[in-house]
Amino acid sequence: MTNPAAGRGLFITFEGPDGSGKSTQMRILVERLRNQGRVVTINQEPGGTGIGQQVRKILLDPENHDMAPLTELLLMFASRTQAAAETIRPALARGEIVVSDRFTDSSLAYQGGGREIGFDLVLAMHRLALSGLYPDLTILLDIDLELGLSRARGRNRENRSGGEARLDEQGLEFHKRVREAYLQIAALDPERVVMFDGAEPIKAVSEKIWQRVSAEFLKAR
Ligand code: TYD
Repeated sequence: MTNPAAGRGLFITFEGPDGSGKSTQMRILVERLRNQGRVVTINQEPGGTGIGQQVRKILLDPENHDMAPLTELLLMFASRTQAAAETIRPALARGEIVVSDRFTDSSLAYQGGGREIGFDLVLAMHRLALSGLYPDLTILLDIDLELGLSRARGRNRENRSGGEARLDEQGLEFHKRVREAYLQIAALDPERVVMFDGAEPIKAVSEKIWQRVSAEFLKAR
């Protein structure tokens, strides 16, 4: 067990820049795990719990354009801390698989990198609020900046209100820093973070993810 503080379950997170196909791949994996008869608990950040949903509203509200980067970071961790207490830790303790759409790596990439707060402060926040809770496996969907943004913007036009776009509609430089930060996270923690090419066909990526997750089950636990 790589994550003793978390109990016997398996904690998998999905990460990646906007438009990387992360949420689609997560849906496919969860369905496949459930078809195998495994119990899977899902989390989403920011959000995931009732309290997290309220925090998410503040984060995405276009009225909140004056939000300081540190406020944004603390709210992300408020949502995450609640999800850890209410959903993630109890499910892991029951021996379930927890799959989370984003976790602390998103704060490293978006607030640490994108907002230029730096990794150290984000990691300190994580230790303070979530001591000992780390994913066993992180699936990082990487995507070329232009392709990711054009996909995300198409999606925003189709099915999102203006409000939901507050965090998506940042400048090109911001998204460049986010992607760079993700690549750095993968390089710093290659055992945990496995990178996949989000530009490949959905089926090809989902097969590779399945191979990697299956290997996780074969590890001595
Ligand atoms: P969401 O609508 O969930 O988008 P996505 O499908 O891309 O996950 O919005 C989440 C947004 O919040 C996304 O732009 C990434 C951002 N975010 C952070 O900036 N920091 C964080 O810690 C998390 C979890 C998300």
